[in-house]
Amino acid sequence: MTSDQDIQKLIRPELIKMKAYAAIEPPEILVRGTGIAAEKVIKLDGNENPYGCSPKVLVALVTYPYYHIYPDPEQRELREALSKYIGLDTGHIVAGSGIDELIDIVLSLLLQPGDKVINCPPTFGMYSFRTEVWAGKVVNVQRRQDFSLDVPAIKKAVDKRTKVIFIASPNNPTGNVATEPEVAELLDTGLVVVIDEAYSEFSGVTMVFSVPRYSNLVVLRTFSKWAGLAGLRIGYGIFPKVIAEYLMKIKQPYNINVAAQVAAIQSLKDVDYLRGTIKKIVAERERLFNRLEKEIKWLIPYPSEGNFILCRVVKGNARTVHQQLRQRGIFIRYFDTPELKGCLRITVGKPQDTDALIAALKEIC
Ligand SMILES: Cc1ncc(COP(=O)(O)O)c(C=O)c1O
Repeated sequence: MTSDQDIQKLIRPELIKMKAYAAIEPPEILVRGTGIAAEKVIKLDGNENPYGCSPKVLVALVTYPYYHIYPDPEQRELREALSKYIGLDTGHIVAGSGIDELIDIVLSLLLQPGDKVINCPPTFGMYSFRTEVWAGKVVNVQRRQDFSLDVPAIKKAVDKRTKVIFIASPNNPTGNVATEPEVAELLDTGLVVVIDEAYSEFSGVTMVFSVPRYSNLVVLRTFSKWAGLAGLRIGYGIFPKVIAEYLMKIKQPYNINVAAQVAAIQSLKDVDYLRGTIKKIVAERERLFNRLEKEIKWLIPYPSEGNFILCRVVKGNARTVHQQLRQRGIFIRYFDTPELKGCLRITVGKPQDTDALIAALKEIC
């Protein structure tokens, strides 16, 4: 009989050694064992949208009649709607189950075992995690003290095996954007440069319009944040046409489910409503920043162009703060990495979430 050990021998050894991704949990799991009701949770740990999706999305989901039919493998209706939204033709666009899946498809297209991927920490963990899963080698080029990109160091790190550079802009968790000259310099390397714009609707900064001018610039976008659809898993990328064609060829034919497709199309029909929620979140980001800066003296907030604020605990212990907030039903993100030592990331919530958070932080210290 085959034993568990026999099976282990069949598994890729580097995956056995690999560290698992630390993903965030939904409210009903967060509250297990705490005695706090899931609906009472103040969830500021996942950069989700506290206002949820457009009400029109909910109606469209309930009335959609074809859940028993497979989705369009060419994603035509969605790509056409996206084409109108961004102003580039459908040949540049591929949709996926969130940016996470698009990162995967891009890596599966580009990487042979041992090929290198440049990652600029502190940043979103998915780039290094998925590179390892795809048998690539992660080359970390640390950001500078102020979290800006160290472009000369990135260029120096490039060698014959390097295929792709991932840059989040605004960067998660630091909140700053990459500048156009920086990105242009990276594009000069000839590598595929992926700009992850998960939060660009909150910053108003985008590289989308530069895509047709470069054969190596990729921009990834999502409906998870500005459109409040994180649970439905829907994102898209704007690619040079050659890359888009290969991605359409190699992706899973039904990679986005019909519910996600319906919700995304409906969101694009209700952009004015969603712009209203973006405005509220941006205003609340500024209010949260000001209150943290003025009222919580043991913590330094970093300016952010996303829907979250990174803070450094300068007196006390970040882990303890995180735990004490948890006990009060307030969940924020704590980082256990050397470059983010003493840091906490707070998602921008509704005004009442800010008020509850500030009151709790005052109680803690
Ligand atoms: C920079 C960045 N990119 C992508 C994602 C994930 O996007 P999606 O939900 O579309 O997979 C996140 C989520 O937190 C993120 O911070």
